[in-house]
Amino acid sequence: MTEEIVKSALSKVLYPGFTKDIVTFGFVNSIEINGSDVSFNVDITSSAPEVAQQIKDDATAELKAVGAGNITCNIKAPQMPRESSSRGKNIAPQVKNFLMVSSGKGGVGKSTTSVNIAIALAAQGKKVGLLDADIYGPNIPRMLGIEDIKPEVNGNKVLPIKAYGIEVMSMGSLMEPGQSLIWRGAMIMKAIEQFLRDILWSELDVLVIDMPPGTGDAQLTLAQSVPVTAGLTVTTPQTVSLDDSRRSLDMFKKLNIPIAGVIENMSGFIAPDTGVEYDIFGKGTSTPMAEEFDTTIIAEIPIEPAIRTGGDEGKPITFVSPTSETAKRYMAAAESIWATIEEINANGGVDNQAVQPTTPPGVSACSTPKQPEPQQSEGSCGTGCGCH
Ligand SMILES: Nc1ncnc2c1ncn2[C@@H]1O[C@H](COP(=O)(O)OP(=O)(O)O)[C@@H](O)[C@H]1O
Ligand SMILES: [Mg+2]
Repeated sequence: MTEEIVKSALSKVLYPGFTKDIVTFGFVNSIEINGSDVSFNVDITSSAPEVAQQIKDDATAELKAVGAGNITCNIKAPQMPRESSSRGKNIAPQVKNFLMVSSGKGGVGKSTTSVNIAIALAAQGKKVGLLDADIYGPNIPRMLGIEDIKPEVNGNKVLPIKAYGIEVMSMGSLMEPGQSLIWRGAMIMKAIEQFLRDILWSELDVLVIDMPPGTGDAQLTLAQSVPVTAGLTVTTPQTVSLDDSRRSLDMFKKLNIPIAGVIENMSGFIAPDTGVEYDIFGKGTSTPMAEEFDTTIIAEIPIEPAIRTGGDEGKPITFVSPTSETAKRYMAAAESIWATIEEINANGGVDNQAVQPTTPPGVSACSTPKQPEPQQSEGSCGTGCGCH
């Protein structure tokens, strides 16, 4: 065994989520060779345990293939996740990354997706918060079984509620059950800002944000208040749903939010008795739309009674049945989202400077002459400000 053979074998090991290998990145050092035994260090920039494990597994396989005997791979990972490299306005600077979960319309499974992705990310070792910013239909407390828990208030700050290893806050936890509020644009903006500024979120790796359906004031305010690291669109496979989802993806583009992917929900039906998968709304129909926006379908989640009962009873499927096919799909989607977030940060992060209002407070952003993109839909300025 020579150092050259070792290096050439290790240069086949890609850094998870990237197209470059660990040797090219300069992560491999202290190679020691004793006969056919090999030991070496890999200094990685991610503290995610699954990244270390994958590198270890791949490196071992590549070295075995060239005849190595005992292989000792010491992975050196930083204790804390890499700081976000994002810039611009951030009114919740203790949160490193923000994932905005959007859909064109309600009822497609946005909250179900937010809950299960948040739990999957937490299961993968991230410190996760879940903000239910759907002020019109705050369903997250029920989906997590915390609908009777009132948060602790500390001065004018509110402590997030803890459930299934994640921090949670929702308008539903702050209002009486069944109450409704009539939201004006300015109130929506204030509510979103308070969710970020006045909730005592910990130092989170990622805050998953379940947005109201559509593209409006809430989305614009969020993008202006914090640098949103990535956006996730939830759709169902029917054509009418896809039309709305396109608007959601277009909004990410207009707000300069990198797209982490599309989740096709209610994609086929898995019969609980036989496990046979049936096609109901169509399946895989979202792919051309994802391609239009240079992204991919990161999970096809079937219609499954256990998903609905899990939501109704506050027992998310990813937590209570982690070995189920559906939970595995959510876990894979979460891994893909995290890889995208790490890649975005490695490439300089995001900057929300370009979407800041350039008009004085109280004046509509729509009067701003400069728009990032030419107007596409009739009568809309594209900022989602809702004033056209
Ligand atoms: N894949 C699925 N299989 C079965 N039921 C689902 C699935 N996804 C969502 N549901 C159910 O559909 C309803 C709407 O989902 P929800 O997540 O509240 O949608 P949204 O937040 O987009 O309005 C809920 O009762 C939820 O439990
Ligand atoms: Mg919802």
